[in-house]
Amino acid sequence: MVAPATANTMARAAHGLADDLLTNVLLTARCPVVFAPAMHTEMWEHPATVDNVATLRRRGAVVIEPAEGRLTGKDTGKGRLPDPAEIFELCEAVLARGGVTDLAGRTVVVSAGGTREYLDPVRFLGNRSSGLQGYAIARAAAARGAEVTVVAANVTLPDPAGVKVLRVETTAQLHDAMLAAAPTADAIVMAAAPADFRPTSQSDAKIKKAADGSAPIIELVQNADILAELSAHRAHPGQLVVGFAAETGDATGSVLDLARAKLARKGCDLLVVNDVSGGAVFGSPENAAVILGADGTAAEVPQGAKSALAQVIVDHIAARL
Ligand code: CTP
Repeated sequence: MVAPATANTMARAAHGLADDLLTNVLLTARCPVVFAPAMHTEMWEHPATVDNVATLRRRGAVVIEPAEGRLTGKDTGKGRLPDPAEIFELCEAVLARGGVTDLAGRTVVVSAGGTREYLDPVRFLGNRSSGLQGYAIARAAAARGAEVTVVAANVTLPDPAGVKVLRVETTAQLHDAMLAAAPTADAIVMAAAPADFRPTSQSDAKIKKAADGSAPIIELVQNADILAELSAHRAHPGQLVVGFAAETGDATGSVLDLARAKLARKGCDLLVVNDVSGGAVFGSPENAAVILGADGTAAEVPQGAKSALAQVIVDHIAARL
């Protein structure tokens, strides 16, 4: 791991120079190598750096995208070193698959978190999705060389290193952001929990208690089904669409019966099925799942870290791409 990786260090590494201890180590390294670049935006965008980064990636190194924000001077832009704890998490994800960069040159768009549907400026209908699973998938894809965008609905976790994060609040905003990002995506993962309904109207002012003690009745209208829309209108043939299903099972069928029906209804290629009876998965670092394929496959992933499930989901994506 080279962090921070300057434009100069990457230029020397790209050309096989070995005139100091660091570049000597890089030239002898047989392990996975990760660069976390940090520099001014102009340097990052310079054609020389662009070529050097492409060379390092072509040779199998993971060069993560710098974060955006305040740089070392008064300027802001792309070029910040991501949070060190997040760089560490990314390195763990790189090592989880031995440094393979089987998603190099691929673009992956992931949604994460849970949407909020506002009743008035202070109140909303929401859900318990934390964004942990979506962020773990984004991290696993970035660690395997993909260019990753996360559309994050109300996620309070730190930004994963090397991942572009777009923030939204409502299902309508999530819908628009996903459709805008979709055209260039090789794979889309809908890990977010968008609210199925929103209040018919939103009050500009805070709703007050009625003097007679009566409670307001909230009328709801259905939101767009983003996953179904993305599946039905693929930006290009071969674009892979992955959905999630949170199921409890009911009188009409088991968790897997309902999930198979959902896979067909949504029209996606893969459906990651979580059994949410009891609400155990929300905010928890662990998860178990079955990954159903539209081609009839079913892969069971035992209870384990969400980062481990993320790697298996990315294995399925990489294999299908
Ligand atoms: N999803 C979506 N747009 C919505 C609701 C859900 O794209 N308005 C996506 C989720 O991101 C997830 C998948 O659909 O990938 C399944 O979500 P789930 O809540 O399990 O299914 P629903 O469509 O809400 O179906 P139901 O509530 O009837 O089980």
